[in-house]
Amino acid sequence: MKYFIAGIALSAACLAGTAQAQPAGSAALKTKVDALLGRMTLEEKVGQLAQIGGVAFIPGSPNPEDAIRKGQAGSILWISKPADINRLQKVAMEETRLRIPLIFGLDVIHGFKTVFPMPLALAASWDGSLIQRVHGVAAREARAAGITWTFAPMLDIARDPRWGRMIEGAGEDPFLGAMVARAQVRGFQGDDLSSPDHILACAKHFAGYGAADGGRDYDSSYISDSELWNVYFPPFRAALDAGVSTFMSAYMDLNDVPATGNSFLLQDVLRKTWKFQGFVVSDANSIGDLVTHGFARDRSDAAFRAFTAGVDMDMASGTYNENLLTLIKAGRITEAQVDSAVRPILAAKFQLGLFEHPYVDEARSKTIIGAPEYLPLAREAAQRTAVLLRNEGGLLPLAKGSGKTIAVIGPLADSRRDMLTMWSGFDVDTSTTVTVLQGIRNKLGANARVEHAAGVQIAKQYRSMFEDLLGMKKVDPWTEAQAGQEFSKAVDLARRSDLVVLVLGEAALMSGELASQASLDLPGKQQELMEAIAATGKPVALVLINGRPLNITWASSHIPAILEAWHPGNEGGNGIADLLFGDANPGGKLPITWPRNVGQLPLYYAHNLTHQPENARGFTSRYWDQSGAPLYPFGHGLSYAKFAVSNLKVAKSPVKAGSPVEISAEIENSGSVAGTEVVQLYIHQRAGGASRPVRELKGFEKVALKAGEKKTVRFSLGKSELSYWSSASKDWVLDAESFDVWVGQDASAALHAEFSIQP
Ligand code: BGC
Repeated sequence: MKYFIAGIALSAACLAGTAQAQPAGSAALKTKVDALLGRMTLEEKVGQLAQIGGVAFIPGSPNPEDAIRKGQAGSILWISKPADINRLQKVAMEETRLRIPLIFGLDVIHGFKTVFPMPLALAASWDGSLIQRVHGVAAREARAAGITWTFAPMLDIARDPRWGRMIEGAGEDPFLGAMVARAQVRGFQGDDLSSPDHILACAKHFAGYGAADGGRDYDSSYISDSELWNVYFPPFRAALDAGVSTFMSAYMDLNDVPATGNSFLLQDVLRKTWKFQGFVVSDANSIGDLVTHGFARDRSDAAFRAFTAGVDMDMASGTYNENLLTLIKAGRITEAQVDSAVRPILAAKFQLGLFEHPYVDEARSKTIIGAPEYLPLAREAAQRTAVLLRNEGGLLPLAKGSGKTIAVIGPLADSRRDMLTMWSGFDVDTSTTVTVLQGIRNKLGANARVEHAAGVQIAKQYRSMFEDLLGMKKVDPWTEAQAGQEFSKAVDLARRSDLVVLVLGEAALMSGELASQASLDLPGKQQELMEAIAATGKPVALVLINGRPLNITWASSHIPAILEAWHPGNEGGNGIADLLFGDANPGGKLPITWPRNVGQLPLYYAHNLTHQPENARGFTSRYWDQSGAPLYPFGHGLSYAKFAVSNLKVAKSPVKAGSPVEISAEIENSGSVAGTEVVQLYIHQRAGGASRPVRELKGFEKVALKAGEKKTVRFSLGKSELSYWSSASKDWVLDAESFDVWVGQDASAALHAEFSIQP
């Protein structure tokens, strides 16, 4: 039996969070915007729709000062120094007729000067309050520099780790992704954009970028409407409900229509269904790219298509400045359409308080940016984002002061730049970045016997434009003889040590934009190094520094302890040392399913069950050559405490459609140390108008428990959790059917109950 609910009403209610503080919402703001708009010439209006690159990464980009002076810039991209920002703002404020201030935009995605763990790592904390605090600091530092707009949060669901930009998002799950979206938007924007601590956030890339074919960055995405609504859209909807001021389009084709010229996405969904009132910016040069796609005939057609599809601001392609006036004069675009695009941009400038305070206080910026007071949060974030994947025989935590010799081995053990990753600023300052080696030394003191050998080198086979843009040095490769010596040195060091902390993974720009990877193997000769070190028989704790799940299938049965530390930021080494030596207890949980083989991709826990079920008649895998199961399930992460979930109860069943289903379970820490666990709730709808995934995360709670402590965790499943968008009915539905529910510590939780919904 089906229970239909009007599409729009339910889509709003269904995915709703807090009330939305929309830029163009208030009457007073509207009056100000309309008054200013009434004084603007058509040329001045069109100028507001252009964002000009401060760093010319697109050949032929105009000089920003000239563009501002000519009234052809509403915003500037990629300038981060207060003095430069003031210099350019001065041109807008003193050399243009209406003195409309500029918005300065930058990718502040995991910190500005104080670099925090990468976004996927932050998602692994499953902790909205931590994420909000981190982005609050990022916003404070950025705003102190004069940045008023970040191109974050990146909300692309990613289910294929070959895609390097998985690092920038929250992983594979829409429910977790929605939580992260809300926390990021609140952290960046706060309650008052005019405060000196907040900036505009930008929900990007709308939508479907994470589903790029083969994980190849920028390649096309083909996504069914059911997946769009149920999987790819929810984090965006959550950001919108949290009041996000701007959206960014995406680079790729979505179902053959480029996202930047896609009126289904930008008009039908964003404006008409969701009633978004902020402004939409294109991705960098993506309007110009519409010609490359074979979608637009030329740059004028590209401007026309992007503008009429709903892109208000052109990021750096120059096509709006070149073509919009002509298109208006030709009657293809109306001035009223231009007004609609300009309004939310002006509204954002008013909301930011830029008309009153266009300049940044350079003296103040020095006291705020990179202030030492943020370091404890960076360290806490590094501790809380790491995921303990394996800990056989309780190798971790290591004993302090045991007098043992510790070998800290690997190419990433003492590489500051690799503790950070992409979007860690332009002039990346690693002077205060703490590596794993340094963190261990800081913890154990000068007299401890801690030695280091890199063992191998790692480098990308193909560089991207970002290495040049971000000033990454080329690695001078070792000669063969040198490589042999370094390898032996590392193995010898392991032999004469009591235990090894092996630090392997990816260098900084091996993940991120334009950093897709066809193989997930540890780059270079790291696998060989690991096997040689393990062969010494010494106890080995593997610390992974990386942006995506890598192939650690061999390690998962040969290396007793594995700690996924991601690219953990400035204080990463201290945070990791805290975890290794038990001054902090790991509590991170995987926001992605960890594959055992690249051939399994895309791999995600919330798949449907079709035809021959796994496990039927003894068939346990869909592959004949190996298991179809992941290496580690979504939500997995160990602790030094010992948790167990029990006593799962459904308060009442059946319940009427529309009423909440109340569920509770108990969690106990029977270990000897305090710790935190994320209690996760998954559901499965047994029948209905469409096949539903075998499991879907619909609730979680992070619980801190002392040794011996027990708590009850309660969940409420309402319309929003029990409804789904059905491609059969092209609408949101809530089926009156039976459901399974599991509560536990990861997506393979066994504790089971059931309930049903009545019409
Ligand atoms: C990326 C965006 C980013 C923009 C501006 C593009 O290459 O795809 O995510 O915000 O550059 O830096």
